[in-house]
Amino acid sequence: MLHMLPLSLLAALPFSMVWAAPMCSLSPSTAASASTSASSAIPTVSGSSSSNSTGGAGDAFVATTWYAGWNSDNFPLSNLSWNKYTSVTYAFGLTTPDGNVSLGNQDLLLLPQFVEMAHQNNVSAMLTIGGWTGSRFFSTSVAEENRTTFVNALVNLVQKYNLDGLDFDWEYPDKQGIGCNIVSEKDSANFLSFLQVLRATPELSNLTLSAAVSLTPFAQGSGNNTQPMQDVSEFAKVLDYIAIMNYDVFGSWSSVVGANAPLNDTCAPTTTDQAGSAVSAVKAWTAANFPANQIVLGVAAYGHSFAVPQGAAFAATSDVNAATPPVGTTLLAAFPPFNNASQPFGDKLDRNDTDVDICNVPQTGPSGIFNFWGLIDEGFLNEDGTAADGMGFRFDTCSQTPFVYNATSQVMVAYDDVQSFAAKGQFISEQNLLGFAMWEASGDYNDMLLDSISNAMGIEQVGC
Ligand SMILES: *[C@@H]1O[C@H](CO)[C@@H](O)[C@H](O)[C@H]1NC(C)=O
Ligand SMILES: *[C@@H]1O[C@H](CO)[C@@H](O)[C@H](O)[C@H]1NC(C)=O
Ligand SMILES: *[C@@H]1O[C@H](CO)[C@@H](O)[C@H](O)[C@H]1NC(C)=O
Ligand SMILES: *[C@@H]1O[C@H](CO)[C@@H](O)[C@H](O)[C@H]1NC(C)=O
Ligand SMILES: *[C@@H]1O[C@H](CO)[C@@H](O)[C@H](O)[C@H]1NC(C)=O
Ligand SMILES: *[C@@H]1O[C@H](CO)[C@@H](O)[C@H](O)[C@H]1NC(C)=O
Ligand SMILES: *[C@@H]1O[C@H](CO)[C@@H](O)[C@H](O)[C@H]1NC(C)=O
Ligand SMILES: *[C@@H]1O[C@H](CO)[C@@H](O)[C@H](O)[C@H]1NC(C)=O
Ligand SMILES: *[C@@H]1O[C@H](CO)[C@@H](O)[C@H](O)[C@H]1NC(C)=O
Ligand SMILES: *[C@@H]1O[C@H](CO)[C@@H](O)[C@H](O)[C@H]1NC(C)=O
Ligand SMILES: *[C@@H]1O[C@H](CO)[C@@H](O)[C@H](O)[C@H]1NC(C)=O
Repeated sequence: MLHMLPLSLLAALPFSMVWAAPMCSLSPSTAASASTSASSAIPTVSGSSSSNSTGGAGDAFVATTWYAGWNSDNFPLSNLSWNKYTSVTYAFGLTTPDGNVSLGNQDLLLLPQFVEMAHQNNVSAMLTIGGWTGSRFFSTSVAEENRTTFVNALVNLVQKYNLDGLDFDWEYPDKQGIGCNIVSEKDSANFLSFLQVLRATPELSNLTLSAAVSLTPFAQGSGNNTQPMQDVSEFAKVLDYIAIMNYDVFGSWSSVVGANAPLNDTCAPTTTDQAGSAVSAVKAWTAANFPANQIVLGVAAYGHSFAVPQGAAFAATSDVNAATPPVGTTLLAAFPPFNNASQPFGDKLDRNDTDVDICNVPQTGPSGIFNFWGLIDEGFLNEDGTAADGMGFRFDTCSQTPFVYNATSQVMVAYDDVQSFAAKGQFISEQNLLGFAMWEASGDYNDMLLDSISNAMGIEQVGC
């Protein structure tokens, strides 16, 4: 049996907390010897399915990912590297008009298998509720008159499926998401009250509770005049952690090509280029009194594609905000314009979506999403994740993310690679954040991204 701790936390935590690790006991000498072998560590994590989380930084660290149930044909549960995660979160349970949670037919079959496999691997099995298409009825479900119904539904769900945790991916309290969500100015206050009730429910006392959140704290205020809350400390008392969804910062909706998941944006050249980042988001949440050691950084195993004409794609000269491109590649421009009328297809899982969405709005074509493996599959990247010969390439030193460009197809992709994941892992360590959450498990290629961020965090195998 193995238990993993990041070295930065081993150094920072009193040993009493390390001793409290549920799956095994660690001895100081084991920890000390572990810290001498960090560079050669193969990150392997055994989870904490019996952790008694009561909020706060009780868990040493979080190495987690979401598992997309709808993608199970391409990426079956058996393909997950369970031993490299402390928890895995199944996506999604959907909110319903009557304050319940609904699961699709496939999820009804898969979720029990998911939980069983997680537990076989000593990994916490969580379920995330909401998401972009499943958040329509959060607002009414957490409202005072319906709160008990929703809490009871969750108790039933947790007991029925033997879940270790619930993740709330409400997109978004007091802010419209997909377009037909119910939104109320009471959302954030009601969300807090609901979480307080949930946390105090005896049957759920040992449940891990998390929320997937925007780059800025929960909104307050009415109509279109909402502002981020200035004090979210009460949320930190009832949630084990938040996972900041630091991705989709730039995409087809943007006016220029920018990073999908910037580590930093305060160093970007213009204010329009400063669209949010891990740095800005952690600053915003901690300024609103959410403790850094309860923040998990959401990281992306995918990127977005853009149609960029050749004339705009390349940098005129070398650029202080870019690393020297690898031999065989040509430096790309920062923040080039793109043609938003011709969204390129992403990887082979992307499709020309002309269906109506859950709000009955017709979709307008491909999403343009490239999973990391998809960039290798389509020849943008080599098998080892580096840019292929002949590509345009930019590793932007502000966002600490790469861009790759096929001049023939005129497709540019903003994505994450081994280097950008390492930078994020280092940031997590330096800022004493709780860990990372990767969207989503199937995007990686041979665990290259997962291993990179884990190594950078010093997640270390400690025998017990
Ligand atoms: C939580 O407690 C219940 C009942 O005591 C137990 O069945 C369940 O396994 C526990 N879950 C975790 C994650 O410890
Ligand atoms: C799933 O695992 C099998 C067996 O290791 C492997 O052949 C296959 O490529 C994997 N698929 C994905 C999508 O990772
Ligand atoms: C909530 O949904 C579950 C699963 O569909 C169902 O079994 C349960 O009866 C529902 N609860 C209520 C109160 O309708
Ligand atoms: C899980 O924990 C059990 C009991 O502590 C142990 O016997 C088993 O080997 C562990 N399994 C894995 C895959 O770590
Ligand atoms: C409570 O739920 C019902 C639907 O079951 C809904 O009609 C009502 O508006 C909800 N109450 C609030 C305050 O949102
Ligand atoms: C969790 O830990 C607290 C504090 O140590 C304890 O009071 C509570 O009974 C524990 N809950 C479970 C379900 O083990
Ligand atoms: C918010 O702005 C949108 C778009 O401008 C508008 O359609 C909507 O009516 C506004 N909502 C409120 C509550 O003012
Ligand atoms: C494309 O960009 C133009 C100019 O910025 C804008 O007016 C238009 O709404 C955009 N179209 C889409 C589909 O985003
Ligand atoms: C972010 O950029 C600012 C400069 O605007 C710099 O001072 C800071 O160190 C950077 N942070 C990280 C983590 O890169
Ligand atoms: C998607 O399908 C629609 C309707 O068939 C078609 O008009 C459109 O050109 C297609 N888009 C792409 C990118 O293939
Ligand atoms: C670049 O795009 C062209 C045109 O679509 C395609 O034929 C070629 O294979 C692509 N090159 C790579 C390395 O992906």
